[in-house]
Amino acid sequence: MKVLWISPHYPPEMLEFTRGLAEVGATIIGVSDQPQAQLPQAVKHSLKAYIQAPIFDEDRAVDAIVRGLGRVEVDRVETLWEPCVVLAAKVRKALGIPGMTPEVALRFRDKGLMKEAAIAGGVRVPKAVRIRTVNEAWAAAEVVGFPLIIKPIAGAGTADTFRCFEPKMLENALQRMGHVPVCSVEEYIDGDEFTYDTVCIDGVPAFENVAQYHPRPIEGRTNEWISPAQHVFRNPLIPELMPGIDLGRRTLKALGMTTGFTHMEWYRKPDGEVVLGEIACRSGGGKLVDMMNLSNDFDVYREWARAVCWKSFEAKAHRRYFVGMVFKRAQGRGRISRIDGLDRVRARCGKWLVEEGLLPVGAHRRDWKATLLSDGHITVRHPELSECMAMMKTAIIDLRMYAE
Ligand SMILES: Nc1ncnc2c1ncn2[C@@H]1O[C@H](COP(=O)(O)OP(=O)(O)O)[C@@H](O)[C@H]1O
Ligand SMILES: [Mg+2]
Repeated sequence: MKVLWISPHYPPEMLEFTRGLAEVGATIIGVSDQPQAQLPQAVKHSLKAYIQAPIFDEDRAVDAIVRGLGRVEVDRVETLWEPCVVLAAKVRKALGIPGMTPEVALRFRDKGLMKEAAIAGGVRVPKAVRIRTVNEAWAAAEVVGFPLIIKPIAGAGTADTFRCFEPKMLENALQRMGHVPVCSVEEYIDGDEFTYDTVCIDGVPAFENVAQYHPRPIEGRTNEWISPAQHVFRNPLIPELMPGIDLGRRTLKALGMTTGFTHMEWYRKPDGEVVLGEIACRSGGGKLVDMMNLSNDFDVYREWARAVCWKSFEAKAHRRYFVGMVFKRAQGRGRISRIDGLDRVRARCGKWLVEEGLLPVGAHRRDWKATLLSDGHITVRHPELSECMAMMKTAIIDLRMYAE
């Protein structure tokens, strides 16, 4: 089983997926735009061969990869890094090997095509208009009405995403979006926000996960004082989540999912209606995969690898724990100078505190807009939701980080 594996080292959780591939017996040929010498040791050791290619220039990258392979035949082309999913599909097509086609991959990447396919499959999506110019944006606002969302058509991480309650806010947003060539202007869907994550085999979920964001990413990404948090449900197959799971399953079908990880976001309105936010054919970031593992005491990095290589998912999800994660942001700029309240968090959570991932005193603050990880995280788990939430609350309220 030879796997061409694009971006084996970035984002950081790819090291775990690389390990997973190696553990299920794959022979891995790595691809990225870095010189091989700069890859982390753990990745270098797992690679049988390596091709350096300009991954952000898809056509040149396809040529470089095909040339780099020469007469070597591969069985799979995989990536879990969002900017490379269309490239991976183009390489598959060029090599004539099975897996997701470029047409399908584009649906998971371009929010306009995504919505068209979802609507065709009977999935409720926000009313939306694709725009390129300021004039088109105002015309779109007439169609969708206020409040509205304006965001890049192929965005990630809530970058350049604005919620506008009235025309003045849209005017301000447009002034800050000049660098984004194509945008989506959308009906704003109020409510709670969840994920629906799967590992699929030939389009059918072999594992399903649901997480909830606290608060919604648009809030957490626009207010620095917030400690964004999220929790994974112990067992998502419960009546209150079934409308979202059903929406997810229909979305996978409508878009033509094949084999691999998916990460979907969905909204639940106060009246109970569920609406598709977006879906990607990759794993969720921000430690979400680790949370799935902590919820089930299994290794979904390896099971994903088994699914893509051998079309099987062997681990059993025991569904014992709710898992909560709280991301902290220090007050002040520069280096972390003090951490208060960690002892209180430890005392409150006891053995249910499963990870302390805070930056140490002396470390430089991370850019909270660029990474959900912010200045570190606290992870808890518990069989009961109320306990999990109470422990998260302690980490949100009692734990403070300072920088100067
Ligand atoms: N139509 C919408 N209605 C309500 N909230 C939205 C809408 N579109 C985006 N958002 C908010 O903005 C965030 C980022 O948008 P999303 O489409 O998920 O883009 P990204 O690819 O950057 O994650 C979402 O998590 C949600 O909180
Ligand atoms: Mg999103």
